[in-house]
Amino acid sequence: MSAVLAGVAAAPLYVTNKKLKSWVNEVAQLTQPDRVVWCDGSQQEYERLCDELVKAGTFRRLNASKRPGSFLALSDPSDVARVEDRTYICSETEDDAGPTNNWIEPAAMRATLNGLFAGSMRGRTMYVIPFSMGPLGSHISQIGVEISDSAYVVVNMRIMTRMGRAAIDALGADGEFVPCLHSVGRPLRRGEKDVPWPCNSTKYIVHFPRTREIWSYGSGYGGNALLGKKCLALRIASTMARDGAQTDGLGWLAEHMLVLGVTSPEGRKYHIAAAFPSACGKTNFAMLIPPPAFAGWTVTTVGEDIAWIKPGKDGRLYAINPEAGFFGVAPGTSESTNRNAMATLREDVIFTNVALTDDGDVWWEGMGPPPSHLVDWQGNDWTPADGKAGRNAAHPNARFTVPAAQCPAIDDDWENPNGVPLDAILFGGRRSTTVPLVTEARSWVEGVYMAATMGSETTAAQAGAQGVLRRDPFAMLPFCGYNMGDYFGHWLALGAKLAANAVAPPKIFTVNWFRTDRDGKFIWPGFGENMRVLQWIVDRVDGEADGVEHALGVSPRYKDITWDGLDFPQQKFDEITSIDADDWREEIALHSDLFDILHQRLPPEFAQTRQGFERRLARG
Ligand code: GTP
Ligand code: SPV
Ligand code: MN
Repeated sequence: MSAVLAGVAAAPLYVTNKKLKSWVNEVAQLTQPDRVVWCDGSQQEYERLCDELVKAGTFRRLNASKRPGSFLALSDPSDVARVEDRTYICSETEDDAGPTNNWIEPAAMRATLNGLFAGSMRGRTMYVIPFSMGPLGSHISQIGVEISDSAYVVVNMRIMTRMGRAAIDALGADGEFVPCLHSVGRPLRRGEKDVPWPCNSTKYIVHFPRTREIWSYGSGYGGNALLGKKCLALRIASTMARDGAQTDGLGWLAEHMLVLGVTSPEGRKYHIAAAFPSACGKTNFAMLIPPPAFAGWTVTTVGEDIAWIKPGKDGRLYAINPEAGFFGVAPGTSESTNRNAMATLREDVIFTNVALTDDGDVWWEGMGPPPSHLVDWQGNDWTPADGKAGRNAAHPNARFTVPAAQCPAIDDDWENPNGVPLDAILFGGRRSTTVPLVTEARSWVEGVYMAATMGSETTAAQAGAQGVLRRDPFAMLPFCGYNMGDYFGHWLALGAKLAANAVAPPKIFTVNWFRTDRDGKFIWPGFGENMRVLQWIVDRVDGEADGVEHALGVSPRYKDITWDGLDFPQQKFDEITSIDADDWREEIALHSDLFDILHQRLPPEFAQTRQGFERRLARG
């Protein structure tokens, strides 16, 4: 780590990339930091910054005997989740961003941002954070460089990405990188004391797809600030993936998906990708622990949030996880729901917005019985009586940041630059009604239609109302970097091209773990028990499981699922697999809302596919 004075952002000697050096200088001129620090990614640098964060009051060191090497950060109560209404895709034209994204004309947005960033780092340190999404030096990886005035961002980026000097070496003198500029937007006057979580009530999360730039202002939290994740690996990468089709005729996919391996007792290994919206179970499913009755089955984790999917030389689709860590939802994580995550969290974790126990450890809702006293995520005293009165100890979007390599279930191939071959792709939302437990699509086109029209009830992962049903196509509504209609078209075209090369694309399934009973309780036990559905899916891939065809596709009957070790009566199964024709006619009518919005670029295949579903539903 090297520090120099503002305006003289001299790079270390190992930095040879002229474009990078001049960009860093430009940004220093614009933002006027007190000093510029080039991050090398070393353990010493990480520890020094964590110490500084402790001194600044941003971090609290947790009890070293309970949670070694771990810290707790409490954010400003106004800065707790992604801000979708402040997120912009500034394509050249509004049509290219499409109706599901916020858009402002690029030149106008640049003028706004230049105004906001002018002097925005005064009194602070400007960190230069080089990183690689994907294994270092691999052909599939993308180099990014984030400039940030937040040390919290630096230490999180070191866990979430391959960060530091090695990324600079991979970039070389002429390599391309995605410039990611971030400021918390809280300059300090001379001598002014900093607050523990600086941020600004004005927020902008901005993407310029043509020039592949990211500018983020005003938030220090998660996907708003750790710019390699949603901004680069999803929004910018999805445009790169689409543009790739112009180069090789195929292109690729950047998706909000977990990737897992599942090995049968016979030793056959399958790979599954699954898109569930934010806080809808990707981390849990990626680390699934099969119930005792499934002795001999193992599930391994390749990734738990983002997948880059590319056609391989053999024509099959291969998936890689571009991240190096997990930024996972803490509430609901426990020894019974996700033992692998709990083991991952034993040491070297950054927790944000969970509660602090009296012995210097962490607690959150759903971890187990609450201790008699806690300090809640806003720094206030908390007792179980507060919990009964409906006050959460941890924020519902409290998160942990932890290296993926610490996960006991991590897959041997999780860093394989060639990725893992996909056998099936799952799509699932949080639906208390209507959507059955699992359905296999009859074809790629019907699967793409189902994914495109997926609905989900909103969660605490995004600012705004919760539990509201909205269309969340492919779980990508907040993350698609271009026109959603074009995105559907790209998926259809890729499937058609795979088929034209005589390669069957992965089978597509929709799932729903979240149907509720009259009292609002989940009917399906979920978590490890999802193995029962996963087994049916991989058996279908092999053509070895039976099911019944209905209007929407193919689903298992009660007798097609293995029930050993679980008391789940047929009557409950019927409740979560029922397809109510009236509900579905209404559901399909709701698709019109999305289609009306996207009508200009909606693939023509969709109208026909929809009519097919309607005809089948009418037949009963
Ligand atoms: P992001 O990181 O926001 O993209 O979310 P994610 O999809 O990785 O979400 P995660 O796995 O962390 O799940 C969030 C919430 O879903 C937690 O509260 C879990 O307890 C709950 N959840 C996960 N799996 C299941 C399940 O099978 N059944 C039920 N009922 N809840 C689940
Ligand atoms: C999500 O909201 O889907 C996340 C968390 O994975 S964040 O990185 O904050 O976007
Ligand atoms: Mn996510």
